[in-house]
Amino acid sequence: MNQSHRNTIYSVEATVLEQTVYPGGQYIVRFHAPDCARTATAGSFVHVQCTPGIPMRRPLSILRASAAEGWVEVLYKVVGQGLQALTVAAPGDTVSVLGPIGQGFRPDPARPLALLIGGGVGIPPLMFLAEVLAHSPGPRWAPRAFFGSELPFPFEINVASGTLVQLDAAGIPSELASNAGLPGAKRGYVTDLARTWIAGQPPGQLGRMTIYACGPTPMLRAVQKVADEFRIPSQLCLEEFMACAVGGCAGCVVPVLVAGQRQMKRVCVDGPVFDGASVYAK
Ligand SMILES: Cc1cc2nc3c(=O)[nH]c(=O)nc-3n(C[C@H](O)[C@H](O)[C@H](O)COP(=O)(O)OP(=O)(O)OC[C@H]3O[C@@H](n4cnc5c(N)ncnc54)[C@H](O)[C@@H]3O)c2cc1C
Ligand code: FES
Repeated sequence: MNQSHRNTIYSVEATVLEQTVYPGGQYIVRFHAPDCARTATAGSFVHVQCTPGIPMRRPLSILRASAAEGWVEVLYKVVGQGLQALTVAAPGDTVSVLGPIGQGFRPDPARPLALLIGGGVGIPPLMFLAEVLAHSPGPRWAPRAFFGSELPFPFEINVASGTLVQLDAAGIPSELASNAGLPGAKRGYVTDLARTWIAGQPPGQLGRMTIYACGPTPMLRAVQKVADEFRIPSQLCLEEFMACAVGGCAGCVVPVLVAGQRQMKRVCVDGPVFDGASVYAK
C-alpha cells in the first residue's frame, strides 16, 4: 500500500443506514463509517464489496459525508452484477467498505471562481466539493455548477429555474444539460453550457477561475479543450477500472506529464484527481 495512505484508509463493516432508489437504476446509499466520514475529502472514494459472493470491490466517489453523524453517502448507477447486488442492501445490513481513498480536489484560494463540471455518475464528487466550498471559511469562494445527465437527475430540481434545489439553498448557481429532454435541463452537452458561460465573462474574470470536473472520458477531454482554449487551470477526477484501489497492483495506471516527462501514475492513490493539462496534454 502507498506509504502516505497506510494510516488513512479504513476498512470497516459498515452498517447500511438507508438506501434510496431513483429512476434509471440509480441509488444513493448511506453507510455508517465514522473514520471514513471524518477524513473524506471531495474527490476521494470508497471501495465497496457489494456482496460477499463477489470479491472484486467497486470504486464509488463519496457524494456526501457527515463527520458529526459518522456516515458517508455514495450515488451509483447499476452497470453490472456487482452494483446490482448492492441494490438489495437494506438498513441494518453490513457492507465491507474501504476508504476514503485517493487524492481529491485541491481548491485554489487564489482562484475562488470554482467551475464544477460533472457528467452522469461523475456528479457526486462535484456535489461534495460544492458543499465543502459553500461551508469553507477563508476566501469568498464563488462556486458555479454545470451538470449533465442523460438519466433523470437523482436530486430535487427547480424546473422553472433549471437549477438544483440543494445548490440553490447553498447560494450556488447551477445549470443542467441533457440530450434526453429532461425537465429543467438545456438540450446539449454540459461542456457547451460551461463554454458558453465562460465565453460571456469579462476577460479579467478568467484569472479567477479553476475548473474541477468528473465524468466520462470524452467529457473530460472536452472539458480540457475548454480549459486550454481559455487558459484556465483544471483538476480532473478520472474513473479508471480498478482492482486493489490501494496502490498495490498497478491495474489503474495512466500516463501523466510530470515536469515535461511522461510517468505512469496510479489513478487510485496518486489520483483520482490530476491536473488536467498533465493528463490530456495538447
Ligand atoms: C474513482 C472512481 C469513482 C467512481 N465513482 C462512481 C460513482 O460515484 N458512481 C458510479 O455509479 N460509478 C462510479 N464509478 C464507476 C464504477 O465503479 C464502475 O462503473 C463499476 O465497475 C460498476 O460496477 P458494476 O458491478 O455495476 O458493473 P461491472 O460488473 O463492474 O461491469 C461494468 C462494465 O465494465 C467492464 N469492466 C469491469 N471491470 C473491468 C476491468 N477491470 N477492465 C475492463 N473492463 C471492466 C465490465 O465488463 C462491464 O462491461 C467510479 C469509478 C472510479 C474508478
Ligand atoms: S487499482 Fe491497484 S494500484 Fe490502483
